[in-house]
Amino acid sequence: MENEFREMLLKMLPEIYWIQNETIRDGVVKCHEYVMEHSDWTLADYDKMPFIKSIAGCPVSCLCHTRTVTRMCRMFMDEYNEAYKDHGGYKLDHDTVLAAAILHDIGKFLEWEKTSDGTAVKTSQGRLLRHPVSGAILAAKMGLPDAIVHCIFMHSTEGNTSKRMPEAVLVYKVDEMNFDCIRSGMGVL
Ligand SMILES: [Fe+2]
Repeated sequence: MENEFREMLLKMLPEIYWIQNETIRDGVVKCHEYVMEHSDWTLADYDKMPFIKSIAGCPVSCLCHTRTVTRMCRMFMDEYNEAYKDHGGYKLDHDTVLAAAILHDIGKFLEWEKTSDGTAVKTSQGRLLRHPVSGAILAAKMGLPDAIVHCIFMHSTEGNTSKRMPEAVLVYKVDEMNFDCIRSGMGVL
């Protein structure tokens, strides 16, 4: 059963394979197992759950958004690490960026619950802890490194009160850029 879940998840989110450290990769899978066990969502919902709940009519799913943010973060990181290798040595940590990008919205499965009409409403936990908070707590609970927990927590407005590490800046900006471009395309920005 456990292997079946893992296989299905990796098929849906093959970017998990990009994570080089096996313990981090396992932690990312465990976070997905946890949210599916502790909510009424299933993996099959990942590609149906809307990524913007506040605006009706956006067809982008949570899975599509997560994969896009992850792929864009990787593109940026590859260019960045190459460009500054001999110009200051600025470097983004590969697995921190990828795990954080993949998990940045994982808390949404705890923040929202399904309704019979196919929409989503906030859970009682979600009214108190938005997904950056519940996602960060979950990542910590699954033993992921503090840097990844930090990036998840800091990927939204929650992070505006403190300093983001470089990997957190990237995930935050790429997520926001996707959100704003789509909202602009829908005429609501
Ligand atoms: Fe996001």
